[in-house]
Amino acid sequence: METASGAADEKHPSLWLDSSARYGLVSRFLHWSIAYLLIWQMVTLLGWRLIGDGPFMRSVSELGPYHGTVGVLVLSLGVARLVWAIANRHRRPPYDRTVSGLIARLAHELFYALMIAIPAIALLRAYGKGRGYEQWGLQLVPKTDTEIAWMMAPADALHGLLAWTFGALIAGHVGMAFWHRIVRRDGVLRRMAGTLKPA
Ligand code: HEM
Ligand code: HEM
Repeated sequence: METASGAADEKHPSLWLDSSARYGLVSRFLHWSIAYLLIWQMVTLLGWRLIGDGPFMRSVSELGPYHGTVGVLVLSLGVARLVWAIANRHRRPPYDRTVSGLIARLAHELFYALMIAIPAIALLRAYGKGRGYEQWGLQLVPKTDTEIAWMMAPADALHGLLAWTFGALIAGHVGMAFWHRIVRRDGVLRRMAGTLKPA
């Protein structure tokens, strides 16, 4: 059973909630589903950039969700994840009180901002272009046939730039996770993988 202080969660950790020793099922589901979506997004975009349009990239891109679908899913799951992170903020594994702990914390907070801002400005542009955006048969962004310049400007200037920066930061984040596992041999990867047994 959980207590407000989190003191008892070492002895009776919840499967669903976070604890000071590891992330719970909900956090892990949100982390790994968004990780899959963003890595898929980056890999396919890199493929289009490096290999270009052709039968190979067209068949690869059919293996997973399309660009806008990924964005809508990341935005929805990202908002849920932010709410869940705030609700669990006193129970989560703490960051080290070192410079690298502070950098990890700032990087993770930036990830929240980017996973919401990048798709949000793209949807704002879809509205500003007047074209709207339809997904799964639902008109998620209304079609107005009227252009609104200020709504298109943020995505025109920043959508690709922020997304590639995010991709580079994610590569660094994955590198750090494996550095913890292989060099430091600590439990950082296991507390997100769900394989760390509570003390
Ligand atoms: C997780 C969310 C998203 C990520 C990481 C992402 C990433 C990217 C990247 C890396 C590019 C390529 C830029 C370049 O060619 O250099 C791009 C382009 C584009 N994306 Fe997204 N995107 C996301 C969501 C969305 C959504 C939800 C929409 C539409 C509703 C969208 C529409 C577009 C369009 C129209 C372009 C081509 C124009 C441009 O580069 O701004 N994206 N996106
Ligand atoms: C193979 C890919 C990935 C691996 C191996 C990985 C690994 C990890 C690990 C081990 C942690 C725990 C760190 C700690 O407790 O100090 C973590 C946390 C985190 N990761 Fe990843 N990660 C991956 C992909 C991603 C991606 C694509 C994102 C982009 C949103 C991301 C965002 C986060 C965030 C925000 C945290 C902090 C905990 C949270 O609020 O959920 N990760 N990751």
